[in-house]
Amino acid sequence: MKILILGSGGREHAIAWKISKSPLCNELFVAPGNGGTDAIATNLVVEINDQKAVFEILLKYQIDLLIIGPEDPLVNGLVDFLKQKTELAQLMIVGPSALGAKLEGSKDFAKQFMVKYGIPTAAAKVFNKKSLAEGKQFLETLSPPYVLKADGLAAGKGVIITEDLSDSKRSLEKLLEGQFGAASSNVLIEEFLSGIELSVFVLTDGNTYVILPEAKDYKRIGEADTGPNTGGMGAVSPVPFADEAFMKKIETKIIIPTIEGIKQEGFDYHGFVFFGLIKVGDEPVVIEYNVRMGDPETEVVMPRIKSDIVPLLVATARGELNRGLIEFETHCATTVMLVAAGYPGTYEKGKKIGVEKLSNKNIISFHAGTILTPNELITNGGRVMAITGLGDDLTQALANSYAGVRSVSWEGMNYRLDIGFDLKSLDGK
Ligand code: AMP
Ligand code: GLY
Repeated sequence: MKILILGSGGREHAIAWKISKSPLCNELFVAPGNGGTDAIATNLVVEINDQKAVFEILLKYQIDLLIIGPEDPLVNGLVDFLKQKTELAQLMIVGPSALGAKLEGSKDFAKQFMVKYGIPTAAAKVFNKKSLAEGKQFLETLSPPYVLKADGLAAGKGVIITEDLSDSKRSLEKLLEGQFGAASSNVLIEEFLSGIELSVFVLTDGNTYVILPEAKDYKRIGEADTGPNTGGMGAVSPVPFADEAFMKKIETKIIIPTIEGIKQEGFDYHGFVFFGLIKVGDEPVVIEYNVRMGDPETEVVMPRIKSDIVPLLVATARGELNRGLIEFETHCATTVMLVAAGYPGTYEKGKKIGVEKLSNKNIISFHAGTILTPNELITNGGRVMAITGLGDDLTQALANSYAGVRSVSWEGMNYRLDIGFDLKSLDGK
């Protein structure tokens, strides 16, 4: 089978790494890929939001299975575009249609969906430029912290949480005045939820689902969850507090009604659903849906899947999923993201990366923002590499991650020293 993964992050490298182990995969392509995918697949140059260019490479390389990594092409309707092409009638696609992708592309749409299907989520009201005054009045009725969310995609920057009422009114004004263009022409003011976060993933063919290993992401740039939000600075899987009873609650109260909603609404949905959850007391609550895998969560989820992933992806695309298709590894996986100086603000690219060769098979480097030139590996993004460690427990996995971290260096390299530390005391595995 010829398989193409669209995207260029650590997530896509981790998916490629897992697929490359499958005997069912004869040829693997990543477009555009990065310095890491270069070593295990053929990187193809493409602008992922250029639907015609994606169509052309699918034809040219006679791809059988396409996996779409990031949300933008999904929200922009790439799947709908490709499914209309008679030349691609045989192509299997993992990724939802535009309507299904609205679960991530519009927070208002997702909120209405959750309310309709009785899925626990934070209470919210939506405002636009015309209702700015009402929005401010509504903020006055709430107690801090105040949560504002741009309705559309804002590259991970669309959620603003402040303690101060006047700050939050100013932020509301800025958002509605077009801080993120059309993405913030509607803004949700949402109830603040206090608790510990968890990422849960399923593959669905729009009818049934398979639950993948769960993960916890560390979003803030600084140790002890301080400083600005990032795309994610590290992740661990499994998550000790997500025990069998809690996962069962998530399945019953959140996953099943979501899949039922997808079915009822008639979304053409063959792909991943990422449930961004928060554990409030002992109850799971949805803070967001994503219609793709998480990054860096994928860098711990893939190493925890024991089964061949290709039959799972094929069954997802074909509408033939069944629950028996997945088996998990018993080991733990952790990942530490190495980022450029200045990230998540402005940062420099083009730094030469020094990498010591490691022979420890429990350390895996997933590249994100890197490019391989004929002579060297250089930085090409804010998040540069994710170092995954495997181990019998969290402590051992983390020791491997950090041993891997010490084998990489470039000018200004930054990372968090405390990934997984809050969970170590809960580490029962
Ligand atoms: P998002 O961009 O939707 O992933 O949100 C970014 C982060 O904001 C989440 O990971 C949470 O930490 C936080 N967040 C979002 N919604 C809420 C909420 N209703 N209450 C508390 N924290 C929230
Ligand atoms: N790590 C969170 C995300 O991928 O959205």
